[in-house]
Amino acid sequence: MVNWKNWFYKEAPEIFKEIGIEFGSSVVDFGAREGDYALPLAIYVTGNDKKVDGQVIAIEKERKQIRKMKKRAKKYDIDNIKFISNRASLQIGLKSESIDVVFIFDVLHYFDDEERAILYREAHRVLKKCGKFITYPHHYKDDHPLWHFSELSLDDIIEEIKICGFDLIKKTNTKLIHDHDWLKGKILTFKK
Ligand SMILES: C[S@@+](CC[C@H](N)C(=O)[O-])C[C@H]1O[C@@H](n2cnc3c(N)ncnc32)[C@H](O)[C@@H]1O
Repeated sequence: MVNWKNWFYKEAPEIFKEIGIEFGSSVVDFGAREGDYALPLAIYVTGNDKKVDGQVIAIEKERKQIRKMKKRAKKYDIDNIKFISNRASLQIGLKSESIDVVFIFDVLHYFDDEERAILYREAHRVLKKCGKFITYPHHYKDDHPLWHFSELSLDDIIEEIKICGFDLIKKTNTKLIHDHDWLKGKILTFKK
């Protein structure tokens, strides 16, 4: 069972620091669902106590999830999230070179190779120079295989992201939240 208050204010911030997200950042959470990451990210980017200006843009295709996320944000008095309901597009729809971090957790396996390449290039476009692309690829060959990732290794995934213009700067092995429960996984941090 997840203790959400602990996750939002203690465990998630430790992970965000470890994977290289800085206070004051603008972060796109693509495929945010009901905000298990977008909400603690929004708290974290303000320096954890609203002293710094940071923003999260939570992009999600399911309107029902956006509604749940908004309700949770209200409950935790979080007012620095912009919610975008994107109807399953692969576009991020923000200005070029305007974002510090694109965060994509447990979403990439939804897309085939061409779609993923579009998404990586879109992430690259919206990121500022030296911005970070941070992803938790789940459901690849050795990790509960599913859908478009079932035949790929983690190295294959790293390679396809590099081809789209990123350099891998860190691999973090950590405890994570997945489907409202705990799991161990590898987070990849790339630099533009
Ligand atoms: C397995 S969930 C992961 C949720 C969240 N990132 C997490 O790690 O807790 C994948 C989410 O991606 C969303 N999604 C899938 N394709 C999308 C797209 N093209 N645009 C926006 N959201 C998408 C799904 O609706 C779902 O909420």
